[in-house]
Amino acid sequence: MGSLSETDVRTPSAVMLIGIPASGKSTFYKQRLFDSHLRINPDQLRSHHREHALLEACLATQVSFVVDNTNATRIVRSRIVDLARSAGFRVIGYYFRSKLTEALQRNHLRDRHARMPVKGVLGISGQLERPSPAEGFDELWYVRMDGQGGFVVDQWGKNP
Ligand SMILES: Nc1ncnc2c1ncn2[C@@H]1O[C@H](COP(=O)(O)OP(=O)(O)O)[C@@H](O)[C@H]1O
Ligand SMILES: [Mg+2]
Repeated sequence: MGSLSETDVRTPSAVMLIGIPASGKSTFYKQRLFDSHLRINPDQLRSHHREHALLEACLATQVSFVVDNTNATRIVRSRIVDLARSAGFRVIGYYFRSKLTEALQRNHLRDRHARMPVKGVLGISGQLERPSPAEGFDELWYVRMDGQGGFVVDQWGKNP
């Protein structure tokens, strides 16, 4: 990723991670965004009310945040994009390469309590709509695992 301009440094960012379960979203957050962005994650918050309250608090206080959820459909993303843009945030999307067979394997290897039912993974995979810059993203990136526990990030549209 290139260096940030002064405006980028001052302007808070709303980051959306987009990908089916076990595509690597939360791991990516811990590796790349933990120090700079507050994390809004449904597994941790366990209610829509809390998710919304935390999102509103970030917007009101101009704190950069990540929505660490599947964000699989355009309609779900558009709500977040609209709120964030109205509050003056930059909107950044990271799409995680979502190969279903690989995600099912990774999901299967998780601890029992962290594992999602296969049906749930299939359901989200069926709903997944690829994002587009036209949805209002200031930046959109394509993320894949690098085979060594880390990630490779390519500009959207330049992905292999
Ligand atoms: N970069 C990576 N390389 C290899 N395995 C990974 C990588 N990132 C995540 N994983 C594995 O995939 C599983 C799902 O990752 P996670 O970050 O929890 O996905 P998500 O948040 O999208 O559900 C984890 O159990 C982890 O072991
Ligand atoms: Mg996760």
